[in-house]
Amino acid sequence: MKSTPTLSLLAFQASCVATFQPEHLRETVFDPYPVLARRQDVAFPPVLDQNEAILANSFDNASLETWSYYYTHGLHIAGTNMTMAQWTADRWNEFGFMAGLASYYTYLNYPVSHSLSVSFANGSTWSASLQEEPLVEDEVTTYPNSVPTFHGYSFSGNATAEYVYVGRGQQVDFERVKALGVSLEGKIALARYGGPFRGLKVKNAQENGMIGAVIFTDTADDANITEANGYAAYPYGPARNPTSVQRGSVQYLSTYPGDPTTPGYPSRFDSPRTDTSDVTPRIPSLPISWKDAQPLLQALDGYGPSGETVNRTNWVGKLNATYSTGPAPGTAISLSNVMRDDITWIWDAIGIINGTHEDEVVVVGNHRDAWIIGGAADPNSGSAVMIELAKAFGALLKTGWKPRRTIVLCSWDSEEYGLLGSTEWVEDYIPWLTTAAVTYLNVDVATSGPNPELSASPEIHEIATEMMKKVVYPYRGYNNLTLYDVWYSLTEGEIGVLGSGSDYTAFLHNGISSLDIGAGGGPTDPVYHYHSNYDTFHWMSTFGDPGFVTHKAIGQYLTLLTYHVATDPIIPFKVENYGVQMTLYLEDLAEDVASANATVDLSPLESAVTSFNTSAAALTQLIGSASTEEEIGLVNAKLRDFSRGFVSQGGLPTREFYKHVVFAPGLDTGYAPTTWPGVTEAVEAGNLTLANTWVQKSARAVEVAAAILAP
Ligand SMILES: *[C@@H]1O[C@H](CO)[C@@H](O)[C@H](O)[C@H]1NC(C)=O
Ligand SMILES: *[C@@H]1O[C@H](CO)[C@@H](O)[C@H](O)[C@H]1NC(C)=O
Ligand SMILES: *[C@@H]1O[C@H](CO)[C@@H](O)[C@H](O)[C@H]1NC(C)=O
Ligand SMILES: *[C@@H]1O[C@H](CO)[C@@H](O)[C@H](O)[C@H]1NC(C)=O
Ligand SMILES: *[C@@H]1O[C@H](CO)[C@@H](O)[C@H](O)[C@H]1NC(C)=O
Ligand SMILES: *[C@@H]1O[C@H](CO)[C@@H](O)[C@H](O)[C@H]1NC(C)=O
Ligand SMILES: *[C@@H]1O[C@H](CO)[C@@H](O)[C@H](O)[C@H]1NC(C)=O
Ligand SMILES: *[C@@H]1O[C@H](CO)[C@@H](O)[C@H](O)[C@H]1NC(C)=O
Ligand SMILES: *[C@@H]1O[C@H](CO)[C@@H](O)[C@H](O)[C@H]1NC(C)=O
Ligand SMILES: *[C@@H]1O[C@H](CO)[C@@H](O)[C@H](O)[C@H]1NC(C)=O
Ligand SMILES: *[C@@H]1O[C@H](CO)[C@@H](O)[C@H](O)[C@H]1NC(C)=O
Ligand SMILES: *[C@@H]1O[C@H](CO)[C@@H](O)[C@H](O)[C@H]1NC(C)=O
Ligand SMILES: [Zn+2]
Repeated sequence: MKSTPTLSLLAFQASCVATFQPEHLRETVFDPYPVLARRQDVAFPPVLDQNEAILANSFDNASLETWSYYYTHGLHIAGTNMTMAQWTADRWNEFGFMAGLASYYTYLNYPVSHSLSVSFANGSTWSASLQEEPLVEDEVTTYPNSVPTFHGYSFSGNATAEYVYVGRGQQVDFERVKALGVSLEGKIALARYGGPFRGLKVKNAQENGMIGAVIFTDTADDANITEANGYAAYPYGPARNPTSVQRGSVQYLSTYPGDPTTPGYPSRFDSPRTDTSDVTPRIPSLPISWKDAQPLLQALDGYGPSGETVNRTNWVGKLNATYSTGPAPGTAISLSNVMRDDITWIWDAIGIINGTHEDEVVVVGNHRDAWIIGGAADPNSGSAVMIELAKAFGALLKTGWKPRRTIVLCSWDSEEYGLLGSTEWVEDYIPWLTTAAVTYLNVDVATSGPNPELSASPEIHEIATEMMKKVVYPYRGYNNLTLYDVWYSLTEGEIGVLGSGSDYTAFLHNGISSLDIGAGGGPTDPVYHYHSNYDTFHWMSTFGDPGFVTHKAIGQYLTLLTYHVATDPIIPFKVENYGVQMTLYLEDLAEDVASANATVDLSPLESAVTSFNTSAAALTQLIGSASTEEEIGLVNAKLRDFSRGFVSQGGLPTREFYKHVVFAPGLDTGYAPTTWPGVTEAVEAGNLTLANTWVQKSARAVEVAAAILAP
């Protein structure tokens, strides 16, 4: 799983979440035809010092291809294939890390059987295939142990009822349908993928009294790269294979990630288990392909308000239907979803190089589990990068180098069900991490296309962009640009805000600086078959990243960034930028409040940000004069610790897990972030008492961060 970066930091969060946050990259705001130019402040070729050169030159696209091949030719869905976890640890050991496995005993469920049919008013019936066609051209798709199409943590059950199309299934979509007079109670929801995290679509359906949910992929998410536009479908071309299905978890990600049976504590063999009904659905759901969806949509044509009448962004897709809500009287879906509950072991591989200062720790992670046998992009492009990163540090270790800070590599299991491997590990090691963690660097999908994407907490922005200038980035035939040049041309230099959707979440919400790097496709690139059986080595080497050159560049970037945050005598954070960003978010919030015609006194927040600014400026002065080991140790401790202050004990309203007062995934978006979430969401909900409480709480948290930072 992978979040989509927010490229529009100033977007009006409260009203725009429905439109500005696509689930995957097809619709992001990248200009498909940017003018690619070298930025003035960037040297080409990049200038590297001796250690940087050893690290960067150690990267080899042929090795990356080998690692990718390994990860993508055996089943490794969450809780399976301990051999692959051990293999990862073994490689890291070979390269000089001390590596082993951390195991947790977690609740997961696996598909047993499913079916979906429609009975029409005229008495005829039609059955959906629910299958991704095996392709002889791509042998992995024909493996007999291929994973069925299903939703992780979905509810076992049957449902038979008329059905209603609910767009992307956000709360506002349901409100719109009800306002148009369509009754939802007792019906099945037919929702489109994209926008909010899929679990929230099911949650919203359930909360509206619906008894099942079917979620389909729409080719509208494929920009122009469609068969309708003359492109051949995979495996013959870059368009989406019509049978491709997006698997994925339906846990309520924005409420609680991690093992839903062990909230707040690690999942051990004998851990007490709680009920999961607050964070996983109680109605069955199934994912389907666009090919299976089209007849379902067509059967609603002429019934209920048409898509044109509904008139909402992202309502009407590109299938041959009017996207009417229905229901069509007498036309009913019958669906069955049978899952097997299991409490089972998962394995994180953890590798360590001790630094000279063991109270300063840099953590770098990627998940290993995939919904399907391949997983060439999600997540194993990142896994291949992590092996090559370990190899690069191995080359440096051979020169006698030792990092100042301890470096910890993590290969997480069970990210896909709800960030289990990382969340349980963080819960397990929280005292140590709270004391020692400097930052967490995440790579999930290292590449599913050529466009680099960066999201991060504010203090790490500057070093994160500086390191982009040190990497040559092969891009659409250009060989004379750095990663920075390409990224800047595409994004105008905007770094995304972290919401959720990958393993940085548990770190960030315990007050640990975090960053997420990867690359994806834009509207003119081959369609990435997200969470589909076609996310394979063959797709990657043919369409996604032929030559594994983007793998290499993203890997070099992550390695150089890791090197600097682990090695620079003073942690390379720019704390003033937190003040800059918080002020921008505050301006957004003021606009939200004004548009809601609400009165909320934001001055406590403003004054807290001002205190933060004062502390940040004072610390920067101190950094300028720090020369003794003791002075350097002192400023490093402040740089490491200040962001713990942003954590509000007790968490955000209705979601204790999410504690960061400056950013969180939107409660009804899951992936996309909301800034000042406690206040913003209370304003959105019209609860001004709660909004004022959260102004106070958020301001206090910022004051605590400022106090930790103050010299
Ligand atoms: C585990 O993954 C490896 C590497 O992809 C594969 O060779 C092996 O068959 C997998 N094991 C099982 C039991 O599927
Ligand atoms: C019954 O209605 C469905 C949906 O409109 C249609 O596809 C099917 O061809 C019809 N069957 C018969 C026998 O008319
Ligand atoms: C997509 O196609 C439309 C119409 O064919 C065209 O106007 C648009 O520029 C195309 N977009 C891209 C990114 O190529
Ligand atoms: C759709 O909504 C927009 C703005 O909300 C409005 O300007 C437009 O007239 C509406 N279109 C229809 C067909 O109702
Ligand atoms: C769309 O469906 C209608 C009838 O449902 C059919 O007549 C038409 O040919 C279809 N269009 C395409 C492009 O398949
Ligand atoms: C649910 O539907 C399946 C398939 O139609 C059937 O085998 C199963 O018995 C049903 N279960 C219940 C509890 O009705
Ligand atoms: C790293 O340090 C830890 C604790 O300080 C120690 O247990 C471990 O053996 C060290 N590892 C190596 C490879 O030196
Ligand atoms: C960079 O490469 C592009 C495309 O190959 C070429 O058009 C351009 O002139 C080159 N720029 C420089 C500064 O070498
Ligand atoms: C590695 O990249 C080069 C181009 O830089 C390419 O010629 C070569 O085929 C690639 N190797 C592999 C194994 O993909
Ligand atoms: C905090 O400082 C930044 C510059 O470092 C400035 O942009 C911002 O406006 C300041 N915020 C407040 C509330 O003073
Ligand atoms: C706020 O007030 C304006 C002007 O009175 C009105 O047009 C608008 O609909 C109101 N907005 C909300 C969210 O109540
Ligand atoms: C506002 O939120 C508080 C705290 O969650 C809650 O007790 C109160 O009932 C809410 N008020 C309204 C009007 O929803
Ligand atoms: Zn992923």
